[in-house]
Amino acid sequence: MKAEAFVDHGICRGSYSSCTRRSRGGSGSVRRRWRRPIPPPEAERDPSVAMADVAGSGTPQQVHISMVGMERIRVNWITKDEAPATVEYGTEPGRYNWSITGLTTSYSYIFYKSGNIHETVIGPLAQGAGYYYRCSVNPAKEFFFKMPPAELPIKFAVVGDLGQTGWTKSTLDHISKSSYDVLLLPGDLSYADLYQPLWDSFGRLVEPLSSARPWMVTHGNHEIEKIPLIHPTPFEPYNARWHMPFEESSSPSNLFYSFSAASGAVHVLMLGSYADFARGSDQYGWLQADLAKVDRARTPWLLAVIHAPWYNSNKAHRGEGEAMRLALEEMLHAASVDAVFAGHVHAYERFGRVFDNREDECGAVHITIGDGGNKEGLASEYEEPQPSVSLFREASFGHGRLDVVNATHALWTWHRNDDEEDVVADSAWIHSLAANQRCTKN
Ligand SMILES: [Fe+2]
Repeated sequence: MKAEAFVDHGICRGSYSSCTRRSRGGSGSVRRRWRRPIPPPEAERDPSVAMADVAGSGTPQQVHISMVGMERIRVNWITKDEAPATVEYGTEPGRYNWSITGLTTSYSYIFYKSGNIHETVIGPLAQGAGYYYRCSVNPAKEFFFKMPPAELPIKFAVVGDLGQTGWTKSTLDHISKSSYDVLLLPGDLSYADLYQPLWDSFGRLVEPLSSARPWMVTHGNHEIEKIPLIHPTPFEPYNARWHMPFEESSSPSNLFYSFSAASGAVHVLMLGSYADFARGSDQYGWLQADLAKVDRARTPWLLAVIHAPWYNSNKAHRGEGEAMRLALEEMLHAASVDAVFAGHVHAYERFGRVFDNREDECGAVHITIGDGGNKEGLASEYEEPQPSVSLFREASFGHGRLDVVNATHALWTWHRNDDEEDVVADSAWIHSLAANQRCTKN
């Protein structure tokens, strides 16, 4: 697959029909027709397109799973009525050899009272194996998930700023047709934006995918949901609903954590763009300690996920990641982080290896993948000329995939919603910095 980079000449403005783009680099310019995404009908931009609540009061809903270490899974789900926080599971449908009961919580938000939020950690589980399970001893729904593999290769789906529109449904449909092991979500999940029932409809919308593969998420600005005096505690709905394995990575907060996969061949830093990251902060100290534990001889792949991008040539959200970049980029560079995935900007952009705003063979590849399909639409205007470190940029909804093939090579691909699922709109091979002796410091 050959990666191409395109420059938007601005002749597409004002129309959603089609426009012409020029390929960049290589042997010169090639004009080609490029169909701009046709927006869905207005009704599909409305969050009400999210799945209706058809489940009975005791029926588990909004099921999602996440990794807790490499041999355990946390199952989260919600029931309207009281129900046991029990997960029964086994390797054959309808036969549950094991049963574990966890905890039930809930939260209030102004006049909203959440359902019963259940979470149970199950395991030990065999890596790479499939498990059937049901929640709250309820026979109405049986779920299935596949554990991430014990060894490379491993496949990540990556998508941010999902929301719950017709565009979101298209993105989820494309992802569901791919084969992936773990989904990485760099923030902005439901776009509930204070209206809590939208967290519930989002949970139901993503359940077919999030109940079947681990979804590892970090927060975005839409997760803050803080109202001075009225609801002064930030992130309460997000933390109550999307408990990530922060305790297992010795983080003091659900807002930043790390996890490993494929027997430690991949380590992923799930950082918090809206948690304090300044020197002396909890996040800064935790990140230092977490990176000190990474042995690149045993962990050839080191990835980071943030929300607000540190590198961005879109006119939207310019400079919003700059304070975090200034605080943490040097630490990530010293650790030879291979790639950083961000959201926030509702478009796709891939940079080359970069550090301190310059090309750097030991810098991380930065990718903005905030084009999941949220209600705010696309960010279509770019700074001109395109910076030399920006290799591909396009405002279309879609998702990305990182196939970590072996200890030295990973294939990144970007897939537009307007194309068939198997069409690759952009791709690049990424070589592990652990294999580059000029970069690896430890
Ligand atoms: Fe955002």
